[in-house]
Amino acid sequence: MDELNNRTQTAVAAIEAAATHDALDTLRVEALGKQGWVSQLMKTLGKMTPEERQEKAPQIQGARTAIADAIDARKAALDAAELERKLATETIDLTLPAPQLPKGSVHPVSQVMDELAEIFADLGFAVNTGPEIEDDWHNFTALNMPESHPARAMHDTFYFPDHDADGRRMLLRTHTSPVQIRTMVAEGAPVRIIAPGRVYRSDSDATHTPMFHQVEGLVIDKGIHLGHLKWTLETFLKAFFEREDIVLRLRPSYFPFTEPSVEVDVGFEVVDGRRVLGGSGDAPGHAWMELLGSGVVNRRVIEFAGLDPDEWQGFAFGVGVDRLAMLKYGMDDLRAFFDGDRRWLDHYGFSPFDQPTLSAGVGAKA
Ligand code: DAH
Repeated sequence: MDELNNRTQTAVAAIEAAATHDALDTLRVEALGKQGWVSQLMKTLGKMTPEERQEKAPQIQGARTAIADAIDARKAALDAAELERKLATETIDLTLPAPQLPKGSVHPVSQVMDELAEIFADLGFAVNTGPEIEDDWHNFTALNMPESHPARAMHDTFYFPDHDADGRRMLLRTHTSPVQIRTMVAEGAPVRIIAPGRVYRSDSDATHTPMFHQVEGLVIDKGIHLGHLKWTLETFLKAFFEREDIVLRLRPSYFPFTEPSVEVDVGFEVVDGRRVLGGSGDAPGHAWMELLGSGVVNRRVIEFAGLDPDEWQGFAFGVGVDRLAMLKYGMDDLRAFFDGDRRWLDHYGFSPFDQPTLSAGVGAKA
C-alpha cells in the first residue's frame, strides 16, 4: 500500500514538473501505456482471490485515476502556456500596408484578340467561335477542298485515329475557316463575324509553332464585292496599328475557298532594326510584307453551307493573331509566346486594367 502510494506520488510529481508535451507523453506511457507499471498492476487483479481483489482493486484504480488526472491537468496547463506565448509573440499589426501580391498580366495574344473584337464590333461584326477538334468536312471539304485536293497535304494536319458518327475523319483544325461554314449553317445569312482562336499544324521553328492563333473574318450579304473587302481591311489595320498611313496592296492569289483570292501586302520600313508598318511599299526605303489571305467567298462554299450563291455573296479573310501581335508590339520569336516564362510576360504582358476601347485607344501600353 505504502509502496503504491510512494510510486504514485513520485509519478504525479514528475508529471507536474513536465516541461513539454513530449516529456508528458513519455511519463504517460511509463505509467498508463500498455506496458506501463499501472497497467501491469491492473493485470495482477485477475489472479487474486476475491477478498484480496476487493482490497487492492480500489487502491490500484485510485493510483490510476490520480495519475490520469495529473496528466490532464498538466496538459491543460501546457496548452494554456502555449496559447499565452502565441498571443504574446504572433501579433498582426493592422496598420501595416498590405503585402505586395504577385501580379498577373494579360498575354499579348489575349490582348490582341480583345483589340480585334473591339475594332470589329465597331464595324458591326459579332465574335463567333468553333471547336478546335474538327471533322474533315468542316475543315476541308465544305471549304472546297475535296479528299484529293493538294491543299490538304499542305496543311500538315494532326489527325485523330477516330472518325465521328457520320464517318468523318477527326482532326485538330488547321485554320479558323471552318467557323465560316458553322456560322452559315447555323445562322444562315446575312453574316458579319470574326472568329478568333487556336489552330494546329505539325510545324515548328522560330516563326512556326504547332499551335498558333488566327482570326477569321466573314461577311455574307447581297451584292458584296472586293471593294467592301479592301475598305474593311484598311479600316481594321489603321485602327489596329493606330496609323492613318497604312497602305495595302492586293495581289492575286489562290485559296480553294475564295474566288477571286487576294493576298494582302502592307507597306513597311525598318526603323532601329524593327519593321514598322506605314507608307507605300514602293516608297524609298520601304518594302511590302505579306500580311493576310482573303477573297470573295467561293460559290461552292456558299452552296456547301446550304445558302443560294445567286442570292448571297461575301468576302472572307484569315490572319495570324500572333503575327499581328509581333508586328505591333515588337517580339521576334514566336516560340516565346508559349513558354510561359514570367520574365517575358512581365515585359510583354498587359495590365488587366487596360481594356482596349475605341474611345481610349485600342493599343494600351504595357
Ligand atoms: N485559312 C487560310 C489559312 O489558314 C487563311 C485564309 C485565306 C482565310 C483566305 C480566308 C481567306 O478566309 O479568304 O492559310
